[in-house]
Order: sequence, then structure tokens, then C-alpha cells
Amino acid sequence: MKQDFLPLNGTDYVELYVGNAKQSSFFYQYAFGYELIAYAGPETGIRDRASYVLKQDKIRLVLTTPLKENHPIADHIKKHGDGVKVLALWVDDAAQSFIETVMRGAIPHEEPKVSKDEFGEVVTASIKTYGETIHTFVERKNYRGVFLPGYKPRKSEYQAKPIGLKYIDHCVGNVGWGEMNKWVDFYENVMGFKLLITFDDKDISTEYSALMSKVVSNGNGFIKFPINEPAEGKKKSQIEEYLDFYKGPGVQHMAIATDDIIHTVSELRRRGVEFLEVPASYYEDLLDRVGKIEEDLQPLKDLNILVDRDEEGYLLQIFTKPVQDRPTLFYEIIQRKGAKSFGKGNFKALFEAIEREQELRGNL
Ligand code: FE2
Repeated sequence: MKQDFLPLNGTDYVELYVGNAKQSSFFYQYAFGYELIAYAGPETGIRDRASYVLKQDKIRLVLTTPLKENHPIADHIKKHGDGVKVLALWVDDAAQSFIETVMRGAIPHEEPKVSKDEFGEVVTASIKTYGETIHTFVERKNYRGVFLPGYKPRKSEYQAKPIGLKYIDHCVGNVGWGEMNKWVDFYENVMGFKLLITFDDKDISTEYSALMSKVVSNGNGFIKFPINEPAEGKKKSQIEEYLDFYKGPGVQHMAIATDDIIHTVSELRRRGVEFLEVPASYYEDLLDRVGKIEEDLQPLKDLNILVDRDEEGYLLQIFTKPVQDRPTLFYEIIQRKGAKSFGKGNFKALFEAIEREQELRGNL
């Protein structure tokens, strides 16, 4: 087997640009149970923006807001609303990752740069992906600080109560009409990913709308990026609605893994997180469709958790409603019990649930 030219250790962090990072950070601490661990802003010598770093198990979220009107982050938020800007990838050699990908056609966003403080040094470099989203390679083997140089440890008055979120299982991008294959080619040729699964519009369509999707994964399988594009249907698909409101391609959802979805979703609901609802009929023949599962049916039904099975096992999943006013970014909570797939058996029920929401928003 050829050597992986872009070995990835996992997701390093995900950075969102948001209109009000102070308040967003409280939402993620309170509702999702993340702990505030670090901060950069005026108090730490950063004059033009404020960033809050939140952590739960292996997941790090960075919430950044601009402090000035004429600022690229302000422009980003004006156009896209709140959303994901950076999908950062943890590597052993950031400069080499940059060279290997740019050599294969990646568009540079930021050349390799070394940042230092009293805890050591970090090398970062960034390339562009779909829309205005970027991948930042982060090399932190010579660093023992809280996050990155420039960030200071920070604790919150609010004592976060973790809910069992463990790591990012996959991160989905929505791209424009006819652009899915272009971005699948990008991940294959420029980043050395492999095509894992293809869903066409026959797999993913309802009476009204359709989409197509392909999933790419890196060599060790730690990073999985499904890429969606809209497909022609009678009415407007959820992907088109996203593209209209995000003003172009971007991250549609992040799926976060848990070992106890009943506990995780009970807590999220108790704290006010809203989820898509499937009709009660979904549960009537569920066990006929997916076979024997370890969980009791009643709590799954009460919480509206979905189940699907593939050749290797089953999975439990649920999707939040968008977490900002624009119908753009949302989250999936997923518990895998052997299954390595993405819940194809739930697509129809799910898309009908999304269409009911689109209808309420006047966007179907
Ligand atoms: Fe997903």
C-alpha cells in the first residue's frame, strides 16, 4: 500500500465565527455541557477579536467574534451568519501537510507559521476547502499550553455539566449544484482520502425534494467528510435552503459521538435543545426493520431517537434543529453499535421532518 502523504491524528478543533461569542459560549456550556478552558481577546493582548475555547472529552470548539466593523470575520458573519470557518486537523508535521496538499492543487489560505509562548511552539498552516471554509493543519507536539499560543486558560463561573459528548464522528459539507464530485475529487486527490459511500437521489428523496451525497474518509478513518449537493425535486430541498441562507457552501452538520445516547439526548432536551421530530408511526415497525437492539424501545420513542442497521451492526442517531436563526448549521448525536454507516434507513423519515420545518419557515 502507498504511504499516506497526509497522516491525520484526528480533528484538532472546529472554529465557528459567531455574532456574539460570549453568549454563544454560554449556550454551548449550558446546553451541550462543554467546559470553557481558554480565551483570547483584548485582556490577553488580542485587539481585534475574542475567542472562547470549549472542551468536552476529545472535542474542542472555538467561538470567535470580531471586535471591529472592518474585519474579515465581520464580513464573514454578515454574509454567512454564524457558522463553521475552520475544520482543524491534528498532524505531526503542519509544514509538510501544507506542502503535500498545495503540491496536489490545494489553494493556500495561510502559509506555515510558528507561534510560541512560554509553553512551547505550535506550527499551523491552512488551505481552502468548499465555500469560505478552511482546513488548518495543527502541529502541537512541542506544545504543552492550554490550547494555542496567545490563548490564556480561562474558567467559567458556570460549572459545566458534561453530557457524554466524546468526539466528532463526521462533519458534513453542503456544496452547490453539480459540485459534489469536484469536492470529492479534492478530498481524494489533494488530501489522499478515499471514497467510502455514495448515495444518489434515489436513496435520498421524498415526494418533494432530493439530494445526493458521497462520503470520503482519510487513511485511518478518523476523519469522515460526507459531501451533499442538491438534486432536482418537486420542491426546494434542504440543501438549497441551506445554500440560500448560508450564501454558498459550508458545514451543514457535525455529528458527535456518545456512548449513551439516551442519557445525552435526555440532558440536551432538559436543557432546551430542540430536535427534529419523526412521527410516532416510525416506531411501530422499527424492530421489524432493524432487528433486535439492546435498548428499550420506549425511551427511544420518548426522545425521538432513530435507529438504523447495516451489515456490521446498528446505530442510534438524532438531529437537532438549526442552532442559529438561519436554517444552516445543526448537530447530530450518534451512538454506534458496530454500524459504520450513516443511517440511510432514516433518510426518508428525516427529510420529511426537515420539510415540515422548511414549510413552517416558508422555504419549501
Ligand atoms: Fe450525519
